[in-house]
Amino acid sequence: MCGIFGYIGDKEASEKIITGLKKLEYRGYDSIGVATMNDKLAIFKNVGKVSDLEEKICSKNLKGTTGIGHTRWATHGAPTEINAHPHYDKDQKIVIVHNGIIENYQELRDDLIKDGYKFVSQTDSEVIVHLIAACYAKSNNIEESFIYAVKRLQGTYAICCISEYDPSRMFLAKKSSPLLIGVGEGENYCASDVSPILKHTRNIIYLDDNEYAMLSTDSVVVKNYKGVVVEKEIVKSTINIDDVEKGTYDFYMMKEIHEQPESIINTITNRCFIDEGKVNFDFIGINNNELLNINRIVITACGTSLHAGLVGEFFLEKFAQVPVEVEYAAEFRYRNPIIDSKTLVIAISQSGETADTLAAVVEAKQKKARIISICNVPGSTITRESDGVIYTKAGVEIGVASTKAFTTQITALYMFSIFLARIKWIINKEEAKNLLTKLYEIPELIRRILLKKDHIYTIACKYYTKPSFLYLGRGISFHVAQEGALKMKEISYIHAEGYSAAEMKHGPIALIDENMPVVVVALKNRSYEKIASNISEVKARQGKVIAIATEGDTNIKNLVDDVIYIPDCEEELSAILSVIPLQLLAYYTAILRGCHVDQPRNLAKSVTVE
Ligand code: F6R
Repeated sequence: MCGIFGYIGDKEASEKIITGLKKLEYRGYDSIGVATMNDKLAIFKNVGKVSDLEEKICSKNLKGTTGIGHTRWATHGAPTEINAHPHYDKDQKIVIVHNGIIENYQELRDDLIKDGYKFVSQTDSEVIVHLIAACYAKSNNIEESFIYAVKRLQGTYAICCISEYDPSRMFLAKKSSPLLIGVGEGENYCASDVSPILKHTRNIIYLDDNEYAMLSTDSVVVKNYKGVVVEKEIVKSTINIDDVEKGTYDFYMMKEIHEQPESIINTITNRCFIDEGKVNFDFIGINNNELLNINRIVITACGTSLHAGLVGEFFLEKFAQVPVEVEYAAEFRYRNPIIDSKTLVIAISQSGETADTLAAVVEAKQKKARIISICNVPGSTITRESDGVIYTKAGVEIGVASTKAFTTQITALYMFSIFLARIKWIINKEEAKNLLTKLYEIPELIRRILLKKDHIYTIACKYYTKPSFLYLGRGISFHVAQEGALKMKEISYIHAEGYSAAEMKHGPIALIDENMPVVVVALKNRSYEKIASNISEVKARQGKVIAIATEGDTNIKNLVDDVIYIPDCEEELSAILSVIPLQLLAYYTAILRGCHVDQPRNLAKSVTVE
């Protein structure tokens, strides 16, 4: 989604902004813009990539030591240069960039038009700059005008504003959209996430909702909407700078696929104690007595995170013996869910900023449910709205297609299930030891699968021109099939569906012919015989079957066209292994089709609008 980067200091702002916006490219965008202030404000905008704007800016030698930049992911109005941010007021003295959606923009726009303000774009964001200008015309005070405008907005926003009327200050405000401040020496920054700031400073202030900030070269002042100064903690970011670089890989996605063994090790280290058969979490936020009172768990999330939740449902129910429902976050709040103080809501989100998941958390909180989030980004909005958080320690995930977040989310759910089962005395120390030992084996087993990537590439070469794929599985593997299909469609633009193999004959079987590759997760477990029958049904209709099978299963070779073997493991952990070949298959297919896997069209890494 949209990305914001701002700089105020004594260096050329345009260079800093272009570098910063490049780091935000992964969020997904279609147009970009930069405004700098050197006595006067100047704006440059473009449809397309940051590098295109860079050329434009270089040729104009854009000057100024204060500036703001924006990558726009279109919501209101097409991706055009006019709709790109920053937006000017009518006198071209004030500029703003905005991330989020202003829900009451139409009403505000109508009022402003009645008062003689002219709009040049179709965006909801442009109302903000005119509101500031309207107030400034009366008050001559930019701080007052900024906060006046912000208070009139309904919806979600992260806003950054600079103005010729008050050139030594930059104004920021946020509600439900991320915005943080990097505190430097003789310079300050703001950005939608920490990745573009790290190279300049590790001192971060997380702005909270309903707070606004004023940055100058040597100060950061934060106030609440009543104008009272808020003392903010400066947090030292511990993110490794290499995490936000591609290193030797062509794409972040491939790097992140390879990081999965390490990410899982980081997620379990210092939390799982095999000898004691114990799991411990730092920030669980709900005490054991309260957890024992829980009679139902609702998992809510979107996309890949939802698939992780669907996998987790199996072992939460099996180990901790508590009923679990998994629900799309976007649907959850609109059906008046029956939840109370005995419901534990687990919100899963890599970014911790997904608007639908955040809204579900807020809804659940209002209904007095207890909330634990499983999140990858420390300090993100969802973690701050939750009673407790289990951080996945996947490291920064930049590829738009989520990979290491998925496998670490499953890891976190597995650990939480054992934790709950232990405090409920459902499993004993020896059983927990056994389950944890199996978890510790997983990273090495992933490494073995990664060694098969050439074989997976060969398979991708066979099928990458096909227009459609079907993915099948049963039990946990059904949700792996859904995740495999999601990966395929989002980065290669091939239509792909993930189905329960059992459901195939209730509809999707009609699609099968010699042009339809069917990826079947067919592991040696209690569903094996049934899934083998489903494979035969596909083969009987000339479908092409690619099986993800358990090492040692030589029989399957006779049933299918291609096999990718994965090591045998506990059924509960199998999703972590079986998804790896599907991530690689999607990756190679996308590469063969010439797609940019890290920045797939229309997609955003962090979906901050509902
Ligand atoms: C798919 C993908 C998305 C996200 C979804 C939720 O590869 O990345 O489906 O999983 O947008 O995002 P988070 O986990 O950040 O809430």
